[in-house]
Amino acid sequence: MLKTNLFKKTSELLKGKKTIAVVCNQWGDTGKGKFVDFFGSWADIIARGTGGANAGHTIRLKDKEYIFHLIPSGILYDSKGKINIIGSGVAFDPAVVEHEMSLLKASGCSNKNIFFSKDAHLVLPQHLLLDRVKESKAGLNKIGTTGRGIGPVYEDHYARIGLTVNDLLNPKIFKEKLIRNLREKIVLLNQYDKKVIKQILQHEHLGCGRFYDNKNIFNIDAIVKEYTRYGKIFKNNITDTDTYLRKNLGKKKILLEGAQGNLLSIDHGTYPFVTASDCTIAGLAKGVGLHENDVDMTFGIIKAPYMTRVGEGAFPTEMGGLKSAKWCGTSGITKKMEKDKFGDLLLDQTDEFKLGVAVRMAGYEYGATTGRPRRTGWLDLPFLRYSVQFSGPDVIFTKIDVMDLCKEIKICVAYEYTGPKYHVGELILNKGTKINIAIPDKEVLKYCRPIYKTFSGWQTTIRKLRNVNELPQQLKKIISFIEKEAGVKTRIISVGPDRDETIIVLK
Ligand code: GDP
Ligand code: IMO
Ligand code: MG
Repeated sequence: MLKTNLFKKTSELLKGKKTIAVVCNQWGDTGKGKFVDFFGSWADIIARGTGGANAGHTIRLKDKEYIFHLIPSGILYDSKGKINIIGSGVAFDPAVVEHEMSLLKASGCSNKNIFFSKDAHLVLPQHLLLDRVKESKAGLNKIGTTGRGIGPVYEDHYARIGLTVNDLLNPKIFKEKLIRNLREKIVLLNQYDKKVIKQILQHEHLGCGRFYDNKNIFNIDAIVKEYTRYGKIFKNNITDTDTYLRKNLGKKKILLEGAQGNLLSIDHGTYPFVTASDCTIAGLAKGVGLHENDVDMTFGIIKAPYMTRVGEGAFPTEMGGLKSAKWCGTSGITKKMEKDKFGDLLLDQTDEFKLGVAVRMAGYEYGATTGRPRRTGWLDLPFLRYSVQFSGPDVIFTKIDVMDLCKEIKICVAYEYTGPKYHVGELILNKGTKINIAIPDKEVLKYCRPIYKTFSGWQTTIRKLRNVNELPQQLKKIISFIEKEAGVKTRIISVGPDRDETIIVLK
């Protein structure tokens, strides 16, 4: 549970609220896990509504770290009668859920109150395979996905050939739908090198070769057998969660857990370098059967004064620019390799690329799902102004403590467009045009040169502080600047990964 003082302040912050949500104003990995766990003490029901096992939500509790990909991050309040839900909008991978449930059991968390939407679409071996084939050298248009099958699952959903969690309960129907689902995919996969396909299907996420068939690519009976087994294990967890949530709206305290971030939204993000679901509050609410207007308060997280991105796509404020993008995109770079190569870098680097590495090391910015180094850059106000249009003004700042010892803080206040004449609807961009609100078009973003305002750092550690008045003056100045420039209101300031390392701002 939260310490008494924090719990009191949280109750005050949420006074009169029945349904709240935690989403991210950037490209993910901003601390949604921490804050879903945090608000979990308040909530009766905690629900995921978007994404799938591409998410990696970390919770630090009493020196122990938990990473959840699919199970809602409120699960750690066991035996308190809280309900956890994986909603209809989630790409549901039963293998990941089984694994996470077994880890929870092993660590003594016995929460049985977890329910899966019967309507969530299933991640099947073909989705994981296609995702990985497309991302391999054989594929075109690399996005830098997490390889969790997310794109192909949502593609099938919209192509109206997807299989749902409910199909796990009906093996005969499951098999019929599976055969239909695979028909076109086999034709497509036959265009690729068989060796690559066989190799991918040996991966542990794809049943270690169990689902491979030399002649037809997929061993249908092996897949049916495995997924029928999931049906048996999960039969008491599968239900109509959307209706359940609608019935409890306004009665129980509901907490919605966002995945990814607004800038990765399929509808509003930096397309095509996005995920395949709508990560905004609208997508999240829809993914649990609700409407965004049903949500009384949405907390949009801002990692500041640096931010991160994983995978391909523009990142105008990236420290070290293309050099960093290339380095982080090189397959196989690990935290250990960076440490061996660069040693312990401090935050006083004058070289921007090295500063980016130093920030990554200081913030432990390595993917919770893939282990990839996260690209690091300065806080980008044009993107923040764009993003808060979706999640509204209430924000949580996270990871500020990472920059405690940085002498100089840069904040991007606008971009200068440096490209050729370009039409964006009725707007015409020319060389030298100033852009205040980001335009998430890759033809624009590649020519956006950040204009920075520089601040002195606060240069003192803040992790032990629990009251907004105690924060260093210089940090307060920076936060006020961001609030004013992006039109946001600070509700919480996070000063460390632990539940209690949190400052509630009541004003
Ligand atoms: P999510 O995907 O949004 O849940 O975020 P991730 O779990 O992928 O990454 C956020 C990381 O930052 C995790 O390791 C958290 O434990 C950690 N974290 C969260 N808030 C803070 C904070 O205020 N300060 C520090 N130093 N770490 C934090
Ligand atoms: P959480 O919830 C950061 C990124 C991938 C890639 C793009 C598409 O932990 O914040 P996908 O596998 O979804 O098809 O990959 O989206 N991505 C994330 N980046 N945090 C995440 O989740 C992400 N989920 C997907 O790196 O660029
Ligand atoms: Mg994450």
